[in-house]
Amino acid sequence: MKPFISFENLSFKYSEEEPRWVLENINLTIDDGSFVAVLGHNGSGKSTLAKHLNAILLPTEGKVYVDGIDTCDEEKLFDLRQRVGMVFQNPDNQIVATVVEEDVAFAPENLGVPPAEIRERVDWALEAVSMTEYREAASYHLSGGQKQRIAIAGVLAMKPKCIVLDEPTAMLDPQGRKEVMKTIRELNKNEGITIVMITHYMNEAIMADRVVVMDEGHVILDGDPYEVFSHVDELKSVGLDVPQPTELMYLLKGAGVDIEKTVLTDEECAEVLYNLLEGQR
Ligand SMILES: Nc1ncnc2c1ncn2[C@@H]1O[C@H](COP(=O)(O)OP(=O)(O)OP(=O)(O)O)[C@@H](O)[C@H]1O
Ligand SMILES: [Mg+2]
Repeated sequence: MKPFISFENLSFKYSEEEPRWVLENINLTIDDGSFVAVLGHNGSGKSTLAKHLNAILLPTEGKVYVDGIDTCDEEKLFDLRQRVGMVFQNPDNQIVATVVEEDVAFAPENLGVPPAEIRERVDWALEAVSMTEYREAASYHLSGGQKQRIAIAGVLAMKPKCIVLDEPTAMLDPQGRKEVMKTIRELNKNEGITIVMITHYMNEAIMADRVVVMDEGHVILDGDPYEVFSHVDELKSVGLDVPQPTELMYLLKGAGVDIEKTVLTDEECAEVLYNLLEGQR
């Protein structure tokens, strides 16, 4: 299968004068329909990488292809931006209309999509983020999590194949975070939308099929969550945490307890502990 996204020897700096690359020789492919989480310490280059996906930034060296489109091809810019929707941290900066359904309709209206199809898209997008009952609500009255789901619906109304989310839950409370993560996961599983999600939360990263870890403009780890979070020392050395259950197992292992597998969730952790204690009886 041809990858949906491919970064080929991508290097980038914001200006010629900068002595160091912000991204250096990145080679990465992302399959159609996958859910990839991107982790990395502040300043490691995550947002810079994400902005290459819809040509907000262009490579200084190397190439980025999305669905066969070279992001440098100006004639294809419109096609590219239709395929890749971006969602950022602050929902307030992404809401453009005062009524929810008008907000969701905004982008397709600007594209000249016929009214009947706009209505269909808005219905579908609101349903996909579980916000149908709020369609006539005032956008500014919604909670942070609801606003972020409306921002996602606005992107969905463009019928993108891929959504790139740059810390979409960073400004939300725990409830809002949960709602948004559930929405993102459902869009991936039910609609087959490719997801690239930057996050600082390890419990969000483990929901992805694949985790890519960046440090100082390089990809240093890449694999499924079990693979990546088995590298506890390496993650800590670049200033990252691991999920709490993983951390507990790591500490027990360090104390000499015989633990083989990597655990990510509370349930897996409980099971390992249960079996350990059972074995000691
Ligand atoms: N517009 C810009 N002009 C110049 N340098 C920039 C610009 N944006 C980011 N940088 C620099 O590029 C590097 C990577 O920044 P980037 O925002 O991609 O990191 P990040 O991994 O997204 O960090 P964070 O977790 O804080 O969001 C940093 O050193 C940053 O200071
Ligand atoms: Mg960032």
